[in-house]
Amino acid sequence: MTSIRKDDHIRLALQQSEENPASDFDRIRFVHRSIPINKDPISLHTTIAGLEMNFPFYINAMTGGSETAKKINAQLAQVAKATGLAMATGSLSAALKDPKLEESYRIVRDTFEDGMIFANIGADRTLEDARKAVKILNANALQIHLNAPQEIVMPEGDREFHLWEKNISDIVKNVGVEVIVKEVGFGMSRHTVNHLIGLGVKTVDVSGRGGTNFIRIENARRPIALEYLDEWGLSTVESLIDCYALSDKVDVIASGGIRHPLDMAKAFALGAKAIGLSGTILSLLQSGGVKYAISVIENWKEELRMIMLMLGVSHIEE
Ligand code: FNR
Repeated sequence: MTSIRKDDHIRLALQQSEENPASDFDRIRFVHRSIPINKDPISLHTTIAGLEMNFPFYINAMTGGSETAKKINAQLAQVAKATGLAMATGSLSAALKDPKLEESYRIVRDTFEDGMIFANIGADRTLEDARKAVKILNANALQIHLNAPQEIVMPEGDREFHLWEKNISDIVKNVGVEVIVKEVGFGMSRHTVNHLIGLGVKTVDVSGRGGTNFIRIENARRPIALEYLDEWGLSTVESLIDCYALSDKVDVIASGGIRHPLDMAKAFALGAKAIGLSGTILSLLQSGGVKYAISVIENWKEELRMIMLMLGVSHIEE
């Protein structure tokens, strides 16, 4: 059941990504500088969750838990290794339920032995589960995902969320690696992020609307779709603007509908310290394979530097 669901998610995410929804990033423009002055060499270095990253964008959580997922994880890890990007696996829930499925995640660590790898679990999971997930991948950090709308629309989804706060606070305090609490494409408001700060969270990925849409994905799996919920959630841009005032209390990561280096630069200007990409990378892999994805990502690094040059900034924080 879980393996079939994982394969459905990949297929539907790819299928729906071809529809190019309107993006709030297109409604934002930089103030142009006619005389850009960069004092230092342009650096793409950033720090999130206490981890030093050579590049400010990474492959965000997607998959694991089936044969197809294993192949995709192996390819994503090859891309991460060749480009030096960090990478998150999809939720390890499937492996926690059935240890035979661990291999479909562990392939990431086996492929990219010294890589920066993030494990991923849902907020329904306990501290013990979190420790197991980190161990399976020898992970450098742990992502905890919040996906209530997806669970609600998923016919077989959870309906109980009352343990989430306790689990998050237990895990953040005791798991022994840095924790990133992330949405899955519905965005986070300042209210949510303040709530998470109160639970001890220091890094959030607001993962907003604008790219992969898990209500639409789950609707496509339902006998009767709840289409009126398709537009639920805050966009990534709305989330970043709402959370801007909290940037001194929490590291904010942006994901959700990031298509290219200009979207990344806009997200940095709105307070993000790093960027996660899921749907865009999956589409690159699907359309052109590993080598193609690597070449696009290498170009992105250079293009991001060019945008920073136009803006007259030398560091991501600027
Ligand atoms: C996801 N995403 C996701 N997130 C998570 O925390 N755990 C998971 O297991 C998954 N699974 C998953 C599967 C597939 C096929 C996709 C495309 C995405 C959500 C992902 O990390 C991200 O938050 C959203 O997809 C929004 O970013 P994009 O896709 O618009 O860049």
